[in-house]
This record gives sequence, C-alpha cells and structure tokens, in this order.
Amino acid sequence: MFVRVDFNVPLRDGKVSETHRIEAALPTLRRVSAQAKKTIVASHLGRPGGKRLTESSLAPVRDILSRLLATPVLLAPDCIGVEVEALVHDPRQPGVILLENLRFHRGEEDNDPDFAQALASLAEVYVNDAFGTAHRAHASTAGMVKFFREKGAGFLFKKEVDYLSRLLSAPERPLVALLGGAKVSDKIGVLRNLIPKVDGLLIGGALAYTFLKAKGISVGKSLVEEDHVPLAAELIAQAERLEVPLLLPVDHVTAQGVQGDQGPVIVEDSIPLDRMGLDIGPKTVIQFTQEVGKAKMVLWNGPLGMFEVERFSHGTRAVALALTRGNAISIIAGGDTVAAAHEAGVEERISHLSTGGGATLEFLEGKKLPGVAALEGPD
Ligand code: 3PG
Repeated sequence: MFVRVDFNVPLRDGKVSETHRIEAALPTLRRVSAQAKKTIVASHLGRPGGKRLTESSLAPVRDILSRLLATPVLLAPDCIGVEVEALVHDPRQPGVILLENLRFHRGEEDNDPDFAQALASLAEVYVNDAFGTAHRAHASTAGMVKFFREKGAGFLFKKEVDYLSRLLSAPERPLVALLGGAKVSDKIGVLRNLIPKVDGLLIGGALAYTFLKAKGISVGKSLVEEDHVPLAAELIAQAERLEVPLLLPVDHVTAQGVQGDQGPVIVEDSIPLDRMGLDIGPKTVIQFTQEVGKAKMVLWNGPLGMFEVERFSHGTRAVALALTRGNAISIIAGGDTVAAAHEAGVEERISHLSTGGGATLEFLEGKKLPGVAALEGPD
C-alpha cells in the first residue's frame, strides 16, 4: 500500500525538532502496516525544487518514524526507479519503506503524468493521509490517484476534513473564532468565509493593529499592513451588517521595541507613537477568555502576541488555557498556534490540533482542496 503523508517537519541541526505531524500519521501507518505486506510511505520535506539536497533528505524523519512505530523503517535511496522497485518487491527488506523526498523530482510539483505513474506503479492501494499538503495539486496528492481502483483517506486526513467541515457547515453554537498571527493578508479569505458563519470573532496578535487602525485608533509603532487597512474596514463593516460581534483588543502589552531592556507597559485604547503592541492586555484577556468560555465550538488560529518572548506570551497562554476549561469542541490550526498550545501544556485537552498550515486555511476559506477532490474522483 502507498501512503502519502505530510512529514514536512521542521529540522534543527539535522534533527526533527517538532514531531506532531509524524505522530498524527501513526494510526494510519499502524493500521496499514498491520494489513499490508509492504507499507510505502511517501512525503516531501522543504522545497528542494527538483534537486537532491542533503539537507532535505528524509533520513532524520526515518529515525523518528522507526522509533515511534517500533519497527525498522528502510529509507529508499529515491522515490521512483528500478532500485526502489526492487526494494519494494524484496521480501527480505523491512515491511515499512520510506521513500526519499518526493520533491527531489520536479515531476512531483509539476504533477507530471509520467512521474505520477512511476509512483503509482509501486503499489496497488493508495491512501492519502497528508492533509497538510491537500492544497497542492501535485503528483503524489492528485496526479497518481487516478491510477488506483482502491484508494481512500487515512485516519488523520478524514479527521481533519470531518472537524473542519463540521465547523463550516454544522457547528455547535455559539461558534467563536479567535484569529491572531502577523498578517491580515494571510487571513482575508478565512475572515470573509467565517464572518457569516460565526457567533463571535475575536481578533488579536499583530493582525489586530491593522483592524484598530481601520477604526481610527492610534497604534503607535505596532505592525500594520497599510495596504490592508481599507480591507480591514470592509470586514468590520461586514461583521456589523451581519450583527456578528467582532472584538478587538481594548488594551495592550507594549514596549518601545521587541528587544528593549525596559519592562513592558500596559496601555489602554490608543498606543503612544513611540511604543508597539506585542501582546493583548489584561482587560482583553478577561474579555476574550469570557467569550471563549461561552462557546460550544472554538476555532483558534494565530498567536495573540509575540508568544515566543516570555514577557509577551501571557495573552496567548491565558487564552490557550481558557480553551480547555469548558466542554467546547476546540480546534487549533497553524504551526505557531499548535506550538503555543504545547507551550501552555494544553495540547492533550484540545479536541483537534490541525496538522495543516496553508491547507487548513484554504479549507476554511471554503475552497475545494485538490487532494480532497482527487480522492472523490472525477465529477
Ligand atoms: C505545509 O507545511 O504547509 C505543507 O507541507 C505544504 O508545504 P509547501 O507549502 O512547501 O507546499
């Protein structure tokens, strides 16, 4: 069986520094390897752009995977070709074979039909568990699927689609969305699609300053996407029209710069010209945690401050804790937000930690993802 996973994980000093995506694929890999003679695991790592780059090898991932599955995992020297075929058909080789980085071949990102067919020739059954890559129409997520009669979604892929579809089409109410992070530009589609669906929208992080500016509130040196100020005003107007409460921070943890020696200062309403907002303030924390506490379903994407710096991490941490206090179904999306949940020690109590970055955002924008469409087959 061929299993497409998303093991595009961060590496530090040649080692995997964050294993969430690998762990999330284990239920599928365990099930497949219990059933199939050979489990062929395929992923990309980074963006090597069709070149064989040592630093993009899946070797560090093989080590972790082998440990987590408690079984030997063979790293194939490539992902297609005679040598790989020979390994796949050799009964003396381990049952789990991890193909080398798919993106060492241009054919992967180009969705080249010959490359797709070469991958497909390695197995009789196709399983896609790479939800994090479902927004890419690549050979391993889209092109190769048509070569299989037997195909389907893995447990992780299905869980992601189930949670996110439920949020968009049949949520528990009140449904509250909490959006943070750095850029409005990354979240426009999501905001547009979510405003008509949610019962409340809370905006924090650097994202909030563009919105505050749109409301005519002075934000000092805070990060603002000037180009997007009119769009933020439009989104505020959309929420007003639909009578959806849109909450912005009412106070801020500010500093003269990220590095400065001086302690942070709490500022209410407008931020002085020489200061920048780096976290939501204590009053906002109370408001946001109360709103989260009333919700039956919460989506959280994007940290609410510069949480990687201790003195600006309080708001993010407080909201992470609030998410797990009630019985709400909680969905966390985005690498930084998952990391924040991990920091706050609440990971285990979140209903669903999405493994998708771009894929989750595009799903929440209401787009049909190519990886999802390929499994459903031609219309
Ligand atoms: C991700 O990490 O978002 C996915 O693995 C997709 O990676 P890409 O943005 O390089 O296509």
